[in-house]
Amino acid sequence: MTKMSKHQQFLYTLLAVVSVLVLSVEGQGEGHDDLLVSCLDFTPPSLLNVKELEGAWYGASRSPAHKFACVEMKVALTQNDTKVKITTSHAALNSTLINTAKEAVIDVLDLTNPNGFTVLYNLTDEKPTTYKILEIGADKKHALMCGYTNPQIQNASFGLIMTRERIADKKWLEGVKDEASKHFFNFAKDSVVDIQQSDKCASSAEVAVPVLSTILGVVYSFLRFMH
Ligand SMILES: *[C@@H]1O[C@H](CO)[C@@H](O)[C@H](O)[C@H]1NC(C)=O
Ligand SMILES: *[C@@H]1O[C@H](CO)[C@@H](O)[C@H](O)[C@H]1NC(C)=O
Ligand SMILES: *[C@@H]1O[C@H](CO)[C@@H](O)[C@H](O)[C@H]1NC(C)=O
Ligand SMILES: *[C@@H]1O[C@H](CO)[C@@H](O)[C@H](O)[C@H]1NC(C)=O
Repeated sequence: MTKMSKHQQFLYTLLAVVSVLVLSVEGQGEGHDDLLVSCLDFTPPSLLNVKELEGAWYGASRSPAHKFACVEMKVALTQNDTKVKITTSHAALNSTLINTAKEAVIDVLDLTNPNGFTVLYNLTDEKPTTYKILEIGADKKHALMCGYTNPQIQNASFGLIMTRERIADKKWLEGVKDEASKHFFNFAKDSVVDIQQSDKCASSAEVAVPVLSTILGVVYSFLRFMH
């Protein structure tokens, strides 16, 4: 190789510096905004073990925050395992009194629809909402979902973390949120808010039972005492 002129040396150096800059900028993009999958763009895996969804789930975190507490979702297979019935209940914010129960029935086959599945609850003021199951945690203890009521308004989509325990371990949940924020658009750290949960969450009927049995118990001992 012949000796490079000063001019050539300068060009090669410049080229090297530029390549390093370009590569490092690309590197920074990894795992950040560039690669965050939006709810609309996400394609659910074509295989889903629906048994992993069965049973009770509790709302742990949501982005953006909503106005409900004690969020619970029960999933049951029905009609010869061709449908799932979702029964969702919740209380108002700062309350443990579950005042809303609603249900929706979905074809099992729709759960893996690339465009998501539609949940239309049996209440008159509900809008159909498209949901996608982003993932069921390898530990089977959490599930990430997202949804929207209108695909045209992408910024109006939401992200939801459901857990198997009503009151999830705080540190563990932070880890789940952290991981979700690295992959999905709907889980930006400053927008995910924990859903109020309490071991006192109960419907008015359930709340009444202990009170009633206490009264009956008192009456019973009183009658016993009389005899
Ligand atoms: C449920 O599915 C099984 C197996 O496909 C079939 O033999 C049975 O008749 C079905 N039962 C009802 C009630 O549809
Ligand atoms: C819930 O409680 C918080 C803190 O006490 C309060 O700031 C907020 O306004 C309450 N929200 C509702 C809907 O009552
Ligand atoms: C909707 O479903 C819930 C939960 O199963 C039930 O309690 C409620 O009565 C239903 N409401 C209507 C209007 O059918
Ligand atoms: C969504 O974006 C539109 C315009 O792009 C804006 O007008 C609207 O306020 C945004 N909504 C939310 C919830 O951020």
